[in-house]
Amino acid sequence: MTKQQGLSRNLGPFGSDAPLVAVSGIISAGLLRTLKQAYQLSWDGIHGYSHWARVRQNGLRLAGMTGASADVVELFAFLHDSQRRNDGIDPDHGKRAADFIDSLKDVHVRLSDEDLQLLKHACACHTEGLTEGDVTVQTCWDADRLDLGRVGIKPDAQQLCTCVAKHPEIIQWAGTRNRAAPALSSGPTDQ
Ligand SMILES: [Fe+2]
Repeated sequence: MTKQQGLSRNLGPFGSDAPLVAVSGIISAGLLRTLKQAYQLSWDGIHGYSHWARVRQNGLRLAGMTGASADVVELFAFLHDSQRRNDGIDPDHGKRAADFIDSLKDVHVRLSDEDLQLLKHACACHTEGLTEGDVTVQTCWDADRLDLGRVGIKPDAQQLCTCVAKHPEIIQWAGTRNRAAPALSSGPTDQ
């Protein structure tokens, strides 16, 4: 095996060369193809696919305890950073993601009107440091914040929304998983 082949294997299913297969019944191969075409940054970067996958895992674990809508949590994970234009400070990327969701509605995003509004709100406001809101929105924000370890930041329990996410065991679990992330930030970034 060449060194390059070894590096690619280490990236596993997160590598940009990996085939786009459905992650779940909600995150379809078609949605992933659309996201990959639209994403302007590195698929393997700090706000790319591997981050989305970990946010989904974080969110689904939390949702099992908070009662959040798992469908909204999964879609938030893969959409909230999808319209970033840089990996640093990009304050409007959440609002762009909310607008982008309208273009996916009834094609790759099939939700009730209520859940669609929750998803758009979670995306639009996820960088504003808010902690209050519907439990599904709070669960989305916590799932994202629990992945801050990938850029060398330990999540602050006071900046998490739900009692479940604030639990030291959950913060440690999320941190253990994202320490395997290949890329670290070289400068300031928002979520
Ligand atoms: Fe994020």
